Amino acid sequence: MSQKFAGVKGMNDLLPPQIATWQRVEATARALFACYGYQEIRTPIVEDTALFVRSVGEVTDIVKKEMYTFDDKGGRSITLRPEGTAPAARAYIEHGIANTEPVSRWFYLGPMFRYERMKTGRYRQFYQLGAEAYGSGDASMDVEVIALAWEFFRRLGVPDVVLHLNSLGDGSARPAYVEALKAHFAPLTASMSEDAKQTFERNPMRLLDSKEEGLADPIAKAPAILDFLDEASRKHFEEVQRLLAKLSIPWTLDRRLVRGLDYYTRTTFEFIYQPKSGDSALSTAGTVCGGGRYDGLVHELGGPEKPAVGFAMGLDRLVMLLEAGNAAQVAGPTLFIGTFDGPLREDAVARVMRLRNAGYHVDFDPRGGKLKRQIERAAKVGARYFTTWGEKEVQAGKLEFKALALPDDHPQKTTTVELAGLEAWLALNAPPGKAS
Ligand code: HAM
Repeated sequence: MSQKFAGVKGMNDLLPPQIATWQRVEATARALFACYGYQEIRTPIVEDTALFVRSVGEVTDIVKKEMYTFDDKGGRSITLRPEGTAPAARAYIEHGIANTEPVSRWFYLGPMFRYERMKTGRYRQFYQLGAEAYGSGDASMDVEVIALAWEFFRRLGVPDVVLHLNSLGDGSARPAYVEALKAHFAPLTASMSEDAKQTFERNPMRLLDSKEEGLADPIAKAPAILDFLDEASRKHFEEVQRLLAKLSIPWTLDRRLVRGLDYYTRTTFEFIYQPKSGDSALSTAGTVCGGGRYDGLVHELGGPEKPAVGFAMGLDRLVMLLEAGNAAQVAGPTLFIGTFDGPLREDAVARVMRLRNAGYHVDFDPRGGKLKRQIERAAKVGARYFTTWGEKEVQAGKLEFKALALPDDHPQKTTTVELAGLEAWLALNAPPGKAS
């Protein structure tokens, strides 16, 4: 008698031709991460259960409800890894890496396991691409990992991904904040579920992740940790934002972004898929990347005092977005130059050609005509920035770049670029030969 089997619920087979997209994502990651100096590590699929309880946090959803935990034949409790930060930190400590180099940059790629309720883009076996940088508490490292994720999405042509940013401060902001949260939620405990009550007692910050219906409104009105930051964390966060602005990476300040894992300190961030059309069937793909700084974890796991920062992206979600055709296979031009009829038009067109020869993806509208139509054309071909090249700009020696994907009132909507520094700007924002 034959018996037919189906795969385990929430765990997918990846078959050709889907694999082609996965390989494109992985190849893009390997090429880009190498430029940033991130080297690959591979850790086992299982770890000592206590590692996750200790690092991710006892009161988190992951540890409370979602881990695949079992005893092996030797009676040890082991767990299929639900995430990669704790295993990487464990390996970093176990192999004494801090003794051999002051700063380490690692990345990993592989399956993670969480027993979650399934929906589009949420699985029980899913794949993460993660980056972790150890050894520096400098704001430049926070921005480095954010810039790495940002450039990765850009190279792949992932559309409509918005960077959400917050800071949780260092340990010193916590006690006062936790007190404020307790005061805020205390009157509601009578109507809370047992589960939420326990969370309130053990780690009130985790209440902010609660999906309990009655808590949605109180969570929205809860105090924000941003208002409790110590001076050093506030300065650190300002520096992160200044650096992001210098790199023309737009962000949205998200005071509710506390993330679902306990190890974060200071900067936290997520890249969230927010389709402009509003009602995409893929909007449940939600967060495609999450991360932040975790300055205490290495020490807490028995290692030296080493600050660290990193992120992980959900590759299933990323591939889903790419496959849905929501992503242009080839990213649009970095810059679209709008021209005016008259003698300067030839200069502008010649500059477009020269910039292309230098390896940058730059475009213009050969039909010329009304500026409004040229901007429409730029948006249609997926250009990131639009600028005009006319009498006024040439005389001032400055171009005004408009970030086409951003709303008009966004603080980073416009950037001024010196004409003489145009190539240097492109070199920073789209390296030669890598413009698409
Ligand atoms: P996380 O936010 O739990 O962070 O997961 C990171 C990403 O993995 C999510 O944004 C999502 O794209 C993807 N992901 C998570 N759960 C699922 C699921 N059930 N199905 C599909 N995709 C999923 C972490 O794991 C941290 N270790 C990130 C980090 C690294 N922080 C610092 N370094």
